[in-house]
Amino acid sequence: MRAGGLVAFPTETVYGLGADAQNALAVAKLYEAKGRPAFNPLIAHVENLAAAEALAIFNADAYRLARQFWPGPLTLVLPKQPGCPVSDLATAGLGTIALRVPDHPAAQAILKAFGGAVVAPSANCSGHVSPTTADHVMADLAGRIELVIDGGPTQIGLESTIIACLDEPVLLRPGGIAREDVEAVLQRPLASLPHDPVSADADEAPLAPGLLAQHYAPRAEVRLDARQINPDEALLAFGPDLLPGADRAKTLNLSPTGDLTEAAANLFGHLRHLDALGAARIAVAPIPAHGLGEAINDRLRRAAAPASLDAKVSAS
Ligand code: TXA
Ligand code: MG
Repeated sequence: MRAGGLVAFPTETVYGLGADAQNALAVAKLYEAKGRPAFNPLIAHVENLAAAEALAIFNADAYRLARQFWPGPLTLVLPKQPGCPVSDLATAGLGTIALRVPDHPAAQAILKAFGGAVVAPSANCSGHVSPTTADHVMADLAGRIELVIDGGPTQIGLESTIIACLDEPVLLRPGGIAREDVEAVLQRPLASLPHDPVSADADEAPLAPGLLAQHYAPRAEVRLDARQINPDEALLAFGPDLLPGADRAKTLNLSPTGDLTEAAANLFGHLRHLDALGAARIAVAPIPAHGLGEAINDRLRRAAAPASLDAKVSAS
């Protein structure tokens, strides 16, 4: 990374593709390797709160959230410090920066040894499902990156929760920390962006570029809230009940006991496996909306959004 190379590494959420945040050439290579449009900014990963304070301005809410959830699956979008050394390419020229302190021994060791901010988007090709194993990373990026550190499957399996603390806190992306837990710390409800990608106006510069119609897309079509399964469909199940019409050979269960944490950890891996079976469509059983269910349903809605949206707003 010091020499400007790209190194994929595990975090507790998903694998990230790391580059030196201050090296514009390395950041450009990173966008290129992912096929990611350069207007979609990156999260800068740092070792601890003190390192984050050097890059961004924290208000009282931001401090509260950072102290409670860092290190962990929380990303804060904050105003940049004047003179913030992170490359403008990494922040897409915005006046804000996304920061995260990951809670994974490999990620922490890398940040400590490197000594500076590391930008790291999910280590997948733009628009694909996020990687939760080193094999997923190589399936997308072999030949385009210098190295992947294999730390086994990631624990949480979903990306971090992103909250903008510019004025009133806003939930930009549901993720590994449930809304309820954030609201308990803020002691008030959290505003959120509209998460129906179809109603999002792609021409308007969004607060979170790349989030509105972002695709976590398998090749197969995705059908949500399925209550019965058609013969040409694979099934992404949840809970103990087998849905009518389901073929066991084409079924993977996110959590047979209905546990949302287990479901989050299995989500992207199961989507990849079912997609690899070659079914025309993946039917998805209903999944509760509370706790981590909000983030799981968000990713599934994006996976199910019509592909034509990709042409308008690109994926991450
Ligand atoms: O769990 C995670 O957050 C993983 C691991 C590797 O840390 N990273 C990740 O990065 O999911 P990525 O690039 O796939 O998603 C980051 C999202 C993008 O949708 C981007 O648009 C948004 O964060 N973002 C970054 N900087 C922003 C900013 N200044 N304002 C608003 N949104 C921002
Ligand atoms: Mg991503």
